Amino acid sequence: MKSKFTTLLLIWVIASVSAPLRCQTLLTNIEARNFMSLDGRWEIIIDPFNGGAGNWKPIWKDQHGVGKSDFYEYQFDQGITLHVPGDWNSQESNLLYYEGTLWYKRTFTYQKKEAKKAFLYFGGANYCVDVYLNNEKLGSHEGGFTPFQFEVTGKIKDGENSLIVRVNNQRSEDAIPALHFDWWNYGGITRDVYLAETPSSFILDYFIQLKRNNASEIQGWVELGGAAASHKKITIKIFELNINYSTQTAEGGKAMVSFAAQPVLWSPENPKLYDVLIAAETDSVHEQIGFRTIAVKGTDILLNGKPIFLRGINIHEEIPQRAGRAYSETDAQMLLGWAKELGCNFVRLTHYPHNEHMVRLADKLGILLWEEIPLWQGIQFSNPIILNKANTLLDEMIARDKNRCAIILWSLSNETSPAESRDQTLIRMAAHARTLDPTRLITSAFNHLRYEKNQVTIDDSLSKSLDVVGVNEYIGWYGQWPAKPEDMLWKCPFNKPLIMSEFGAEALYGNHGSPDTASSWSEEYQQQVYKDQLVMLKKIPFLRGTTPWILADFRSPGRLHPIYQQGWNRKGLLSDQGLKKKAWYVIHDYYKQLQLEHP
Ligand code: GCU
Repeated sequence: MKSKFTTLLLIWVIASVSAPLRCQTLLTNIEARNFMSLDGRWEIIIDPFNGGAGNWKPIWKDQHGVGKSDFYEYQFDQGITLHVPGDWNSQESNLLYYEGTLWYKRTFTYQKKEAKKAFLYFGGANYCVDVYLNNEKLGSHEGGFTPFQFEVTGKIKDGENSLIVRVNNQRSEDAIPALHFDWWNYGGITRDVYLAETPSSFILDYFIQLKRNNASEIQGWVELGGAAASHKKITIKIFELNINYSTQTAEGGKAMVSFAAQPVLWSPENPKLYDVLIAAETDSVHEQIGFRTIAVKGTDILLNGKPIFLRGINIHEEIPQRAGRAYSETDAQMLLGWAKELGCNFVRLTHYPHNEHMVRLADKLGILLWEEIPLWQGIQFSNPIILNKANTLLDEMIARDKNRCAIILWSLSNETSPAESRDQTLIRMAAHARTLDPTRLITSAFNHLRYEKNQVTIDDSLSKSLDVVGVNEYIGWYGQWPAKPEDMLWKCPFNKPLIMSEFGAEALYGNHGSPDTASSWSEEYQQQVYKDQLVMLKKIPFLRGTTPWILADFRSPGRLHPIYQQGWNRKGLLSDQGLKKKAWYVIHDYYKQLQLEHP
């Protein structure tokens, strides 16, 4: 029996030596840079045996037969094309269930300029990629939902350049998520691709938010990249607040910032964003930043010092009518528009970081966010590489979104089972997340509950390491009521705020039947589950938020009923065509009542 010390030592030792290559520090706020979009139609080659990565059929070399005797059994041009961004599953019917390698290629023209740097930036690609520029490998990335980039200053050519990307979406037991998950395994370059250009000394990254629990002090840092980054002047200007703050970078190019300010605090009722200019001697970046405080006090969640109840909904990054990954500003407007129509001030972005359009639009609309990495059930926590991979995903998620005031919660995992290795991993991840961002709250969604007759106890000891506890329960769907809803009693020994982060039931839109027969998949049954759930939820004294599962029906390979599911999880309040089921109105009316009670 391994002692706890041995387990910890093993996790640390192997995790330290097997750290996967971490991509470069991201250019923050990529769309505020001088960039060229590489979105559009890309040529593809489907490579089920992954033969193209080696030298047997080196697709990355992109060779063409020229002599009488040489020929190659692959070629991009005159083949199929796919739109980037976008998953391949919903673009080509023969790729609906495809799990394997697919090669992408496009060319672009670039004019080299003196004292400029060039970066290739990918918003996301599922699941792992190798990137080649002019047939030279730039690097790789693992993780389907976070951005990555490669500096190409010394590799990009004047004139035409060839960009080839190998994407593989095969699941594996040491991946995050692992072998099984309840959403479609959409593969491809699923988010925007940009070529960005900066001065040789440039603003690489910055973190500008209110100091934790202090509404009149803005704190953070600015980091320069490139040549001569040390001891350089940095200026932050917020014209509306009459702020013109300057400081200097230390050795290495990073400057800590801290200055007094009296901003109008951002809130769902008044999502005030300020124009912020971050300037250095040879570069400047405009940013839209909101300022608010978030804290917990006992079982209360305090937004700008006042208790708030989070009227939420879960959203997958999928457009149901298109049956494909969401990726654009228009997609974000539809998904968050539905959430606003439901009466939400809060959204749980399940089960992975969504595209940047979603989080920036939430800033503008005044929708608070819970954002998470896809550490979802079935994770091999005993494998020490998981801690490294999970922390890398936290790095990339927080690096991209740390200036988005809408985000109040970073979540570590979903429905992981209590065990020594799992607890140790998540505790270390929580500490890592707090180091990256001391301003936000840390949570996690659990489903490990103790049922005793009418009493439900939250007994996952990991709750001690969190600021807010998330609980997923499906009473009335996966399990019947142990007592009448009005007699249910919830206990939490950790004195923390609770968000009921998942609850609900399935129904096929337009299918009607008895409200007491689950196998009817009827709208009436789903509606009744929601009515019963609300009777119970309203009695939980430490409940501070609800996110019903889920906004809209979504695709999942494990949902196999030939009549009611057909490859869809039917727990949506909306159908796969965006039509409202009866349960939608139960939550809509509940949130309306809450707004009347707590304006
Ligand atoms: C789980 C899980 C979801 C899943 C849901 C369901 O709680 O977190 O990802 O889709 O239950 O069974 O529908």
